[in-house]
Amino acid sequence: MKNLDDVSPFYVMEVLERSNEIEDEIRRGIKKPYDSVIHLEIGEPDFPSLPCIKEAAIRAIEEGDEKYTHSLGDPELRNAVVRKFEKKYGVSVNSDCVIAGSGTSPLLLAVCMLLFKEGDEIIMARPYYAAYPNFIRSLGAVPVFVDTKPEEGFRLNPEDVRRAVTPKTKAILTNSPANPTGAILSPDDLKAVAEISEETGIPIIADEIYQGIAYGDEKEHTILEFTKNAFVLNGFSKYYCMTGWRLGYMVVPESYVRPIQKLMQNYFISVNAFVQKAGIAALESPDEEYRSMIETYNERRICLVSRLRKAGFVVPVDPKGAFYVLADARNYTDDSVAFASKILEETGVACTPGLDFGAEGYIRFSYANSRENIEKAMDRLEKWLKDQPRKDA
Ligand SMILES: Cc1ncc(COP(=O)(O)O)c(C=O)c1O
Repeated sequence: MKNLDDVSPFYVMEVLERSNEIEDEIRRGIKKPYDSVIHLEIGEPDFPSLPCIKEAAIRAIEEGDEKYTHSLGDPELRNAVVRKFEKKYGVSVNSDCVIAGSGTSPLLLAVCMLLFKEGDEIIMARPYYAAYPNFIRSLGAVPVFVDTKPEEGFRLNPEDVRRAVTPKTKAILTNSPANPTGAILSPDDLKAVAEISEETGIPIIADEIYQGIAYGDEKEHTILEFTKNAFVLNGFSKYYCMTGWRLGYMVVPESYVRPIQKLMQNYFISVNAFVQKAGIAALESPDEEYRSMIETYNERRICLVSRLRKAGFVVPVDPKGAFYVLADARNYTDDSVAFASKILEETGVACTPGLDFGAEGYIRFSYANSRENIEKAMDRLEKWLKDQPRKDA
């Protein structure tokens, strides 16, 4: 039975909506103690997509690529995904098992709808990406949280996963690099989670949307290097800076292709034809094109972490990937929604309450904004935080 009452709001969207109202109030001359809102709430790259991506879409429209495509995606795009897995990870994928969707989100929804029914349990790390438990609860299924620890770098501990498995477990959900912690699963961790899947038959759903946005020298890995019993989701929103294009893809075990196809045909018909052509251009664009973007993120990451610490937040872990810093504000508050709202109203800095991610008392800051804006936001926060009562004072 569906259960929409348990779906919680996506607080980051509520912060964004209130930020937009404040910006409107500033435009209408309503007095504020600041002249602008600085957006550190939303996980949206501030870089444009590459010109070759835009050109591919324009070309496709001009050439009349404006009809429905195959419900599983343009075969050329699916082949480009196969080449990407081969080149990046040395993993061979069958193009029949690649499915395109209008973003990672609808693909994840399709997988959840296919796999879960009332009472089923799905294991995931906490803190988690906000939508996961909501997708699961909306189907009457139950998210089972494995708490990750700051002292372990917020890494999902495979032994904890193993302990959480019950006869009702229907999937293990991983996210690496992770939102909101920036944690990255090591090859050993991926292997250990894959082993649990192989032993129990429980499939893994691996959200790899932040692949490519990582700051160490280590090579990145996909779960498909360690098991084929996985649904691997990825998209163009983050690495390729294509949030508004709405394009994603997944690789699924062969036996699930046909059942998912039936869902995709009914629910979505197909993905925008010309957007899929843009996706091919993105997948074929060389990684060198993104190097300076990653370096810029890295500089901002270092700056934001040190400025948050200087301001008075505890940042227990330097994030290793994605573009977020999860800051512990429990010295000041137990109510992250109220605290983030106060920060926004009083300083004009928009940030996301940890409650969105099951991390009450924490605040997530996105560094998908310029260094200049980050510094300006931190100047305001540092000053503001000095006047806030500390719980430990
Ligand atoms: C972990 C994670 N998965 C999925 C998504 C959604 O991605 P898409 O834009 O492809 O729907 C996001 C967006 O923030 C995310 O952080």
